[in-house]
Amino acid sequence: MIPYIYITGLKTIVLLCIITEEADMKKVLVIQGGGRVNGNTAQLVDYFVKGVEENGHLAEIISLTRNVVRGCLGCNACRYGKPCIQKDAFNDMIPRIKVADCLVFASPLYFWTISSQLKAFIERFYCLAEEDSNPPLGRYEKYPVKDCALLMTSADEFFWTFEQAVSYYQFALVNYIGFHDMGMLLAGGCGDTNGKPQIDKTPHLQEAYEFGKKLYPK
Ligand SMILES: Cc1cc2nc3c(=O)[nH]c(=O)nc-3n(C[C@H](O)[C@H](O)[C@H](O)COP(=O)(O)O)c2cc1C
Repeated sequence: MIPYIYITGLKTIVLLCIITEEADMKKVLVIQGGGRVNGNTAQLVDYFVKGVEENGHLAEIISLTRNVVRGCLGCNACRYGKPCIQKDAFNDMIPRIKVADCLVFASPLYFWTISSQLKAFIERFYCLAEEDSNPPLGRYEKYPVKDCALLMTSADEFFWTFEQAVSYYQFALVNYIGFHDMGMLLAGGCGDTNGKPQIDKTPHLQEAYEFGKKLYPK
């Protein structure tokens, strides 16, 4: 009897440990808006994800080069309970977006802002909005509650290089949609796209790894 109780108790403890461990696990979804398959942004994302996973969380990367998402057409079908009229990769992404605790937006700097691929992806959030019965000033819709972060690479490295991209991120994703900002990594000085990616000659890959590790401390 005693050994049986002992074994059952041990099993319960092990099971509780597994459940607690899984409850602690965050789901991090990285949306990669860079065009080059092994470019600066893709490498930055890989190091970030390595940090996230080493800290015991789940991470998934969606490449917007492999999964084409077009910008919103403003037809408003989604506002009348209908599915999006555009039949592209975004529709399969919706369940993955919904279960994620943190959305990480990754992009090279194109003409001083995020890439058009990433912008198009963000526009499609329109169909994730729900009517807000008690809207704060200036809002008529609410979005799922999530954390977010920004990862960017660029050729230049001036103090103002990322100003427009950061402004858009804060304005649209943090202030308007209401995501909770977990931080930004603005990796300047990675070289232009005329030649091999240069990010491995900068400290940014290590910074991305450390950012990923510290995202959800355990
Ligand atoms: C169309 C285009 C526009 C760009 N615009 C800028 C820019 O405004 N400022 C800048 O510093 N770098 C600019 N760059 C350089 C890229 O941001 C930089 O090389 C980036 O690290 C490329 O990322 P990738 O290797 O992931 O493609 C531009 C590159 C391209 C192709």
